[in-house]
Amino acid sequence: MSKQEHWNTVYTTKTPQQVGWTQPYPEDSIKRIEATGLSKSASIIDIGGGDSDLAKILLEHGYTDITVLDISAAAIERAKQKLGDRANEIHWIVADIIDFKPERSYEIWHDRAAFHFLIQEQDINSYLKLLNQFASQYVIIGTFSDIGPTMCSGLPITQYDEKKMSSALDQANFKIMESDRPVHITPTGGEQPYLFVVASKDLV
Ligand SMILES: C[S@@+](CC[C@H](N)C(=O)[O-])C[C@H]1O[C@@H](n2cnc3c(N)ncnc32)[C@H](O)[C@@H]1O
Repeated sequence: MSKQEHWNTVYTTKTPQQVGWTQPYPEDSIKRIEATGLSKSASIIDIGGGDSDLAKILLEHGYTDITVLDISAAAIERAKQKLGDRANEIHWIVADIIDFKPERSYEIWHDRAAFHFLIQEQDINSYLKLLNQFASQYVIIGTFSDIGPTMCSGLPITQYDEKKMSSALDQANFKIMESDRPVHITPTGGEQPYLFVVASKDLV
């Protein structure tokens, strides 16, 4: 089964309550996006946004330039449904991040639990190349930490600790400003230790 087929199957056969990553409110992401202090017109992209409420909440908070990218058309469709008429205020992109050819840069590049699915060195390097070229100010990434699960949605993932994330982001010329290890509680009550970092473009 291809990656696209895997994710389309997930989003057409499981409810949000049946997948581990669902959260009632994307607190870890929103607070870090707001803490950048960028204006509400800042360009924000959510990589592997799935059908999370992040884009919806950003719109409600007044952000006006939001893009959501996901490999699964079914996920994007679900996210659009939730937004109703406001769906047309978001830029939607169905693409594998590895094949993504951005037409612009983004001031905030957000990724919760998508980057960690890249396990081949060349895919990780492709992602970091995109970051280097198309993320202009801040990167906010959440992955399973080194004490978290080794699989997500039945797929193997790469775990990160601060050192490993820092050396990855270094390749894209980003420096970690803040890192934290929140524990996500899954809809069925399980604990998933995450690493969440905020990094800024190293301009020197
Ligand atoms: C664990 S879910 C997290 C969803 C969302 N970020 C959240 O926090 O609720 C991972 C998401 O990444 C997407 N994804 C996985 N691999 C991807 C890839 N190579 N390119 C783009 N999206 C991908 C999946 O379709 C899924 O929506």
